Amino acid sequence: MYESAMFPAIRMRRLRKSAEIREISSETRIDVRKLIYPLFVNEKLERKKEIELMPGQFVYPLSDIENISGQIEEAGIRSVILFGIPARKDKNGSEAYSESGVVQRAVRKLKEHSSLVVITDLCLCEYTETGQCGVVAGESVDNDSTLELYARIAVSQARAGADIIAPSGMMDGQIARIRESLQDNGFKDTLILSYASKMASSLYGPFREAAESAPQVGDKKSYQLNPSNAREALRELMLDEREGADMLMVKPALTNLDIIWRARQLSLLPIGAFNVSGEYAMLKHAALAGALDYRGAVTEVMTSIFRAGADFVVTYHALEVAEWLRH
Ligand code: PBG
Ligand code: ZN
Repeated sequence: MYESAMFPAIRMRRLRKSAEIREISSETRIDVRKLIYPLFVNEKLERKKEIELMPGQFVYPLSDIENISGQIEEAGIRSVILFGIPARKDKNGSEAYSESGVVQRAVRKLKEHSSLVVITDLCLCEYTETGQCGVVAGESVDNDSTLELYARIAVSQARAGADIIAPSGMMDGQIARIRESLQDNGFKDTLILSYASKMASSLYGPFREAAESAPQVGDKKSYQLNPSNAREALRELMLDEREGADMLMVKPALTNLDIIWRARQLSLLPIGAFNVSGEYAMLKHAALAGALDYRGAVTEVMTSIFRAGADFVVTYHALEVAEWLRH
């Protein structure tokens, strides 16, 4: 009998026969409007400085913002996530919520010179002497007093003009506390993008060089997630949805494609992925060593993150990808 649902009636290779047919049947597309570019601004710099562990990426002085935001917009990218490195660190990270803080000034400049959607990372590790994401009390990072500082940072970032506040400190109750303080201060339309599922990862190393935010003692395992725990990650995501997050994020991206996929099934919120500094460094250094085709590898990685279910991706590759999409 002729079996129509089997070979030779079925030939999978027909769908791969030509570039045109492969295009028609392709399931996932990278769209530059779905990429968010991380932008580091260091108050102490006078000219831009390359991040040694991330060739091709830079930390900028405030005076470069007009120029770099123009380049980002021209590439077709619609949004940046800002990280600030202050001139002065202290115990409570007070520069994080100062009106003249580096991020607040950077946001005002971005809003003045561009129409980019401005996301501000909300954390304390770049601002505290300890490099911890919260207030250190004795041996530990104190959750509830940290929330009060986060509430102040959120309002100061919103006041500066941030469109989206992105808390990355993994303190319990941070989304609810930030939502409350935004509401109480008249910022009812400011979005919250929660880094809800953020693993204690070794892939943040290059970022900590750029942001001068490595923990001086210990690690971040008492608040960032244990990478072995998927169910716990999903609890974090669902809790932040209930606390009032508008969007959720999973981080790092490549090591958490399963979490992205499951979050996509469980939540109806937009879900982002943060393709972190170590993920960029892996591909960039491998390419520089001649181990792989950079464009092909980056395209494959981006595609896989979108295929897993991400609505948007924060990535250091954004400018390069944008350039490739034009050619
Ligand atoms: C701050 C923060 C970190 C990253 C984003 N926000 C570092 C950390 O948690 O230590 C990592 C981003 C990257 O590696 O690209 N809490
Ligand atoms: Zn932090």
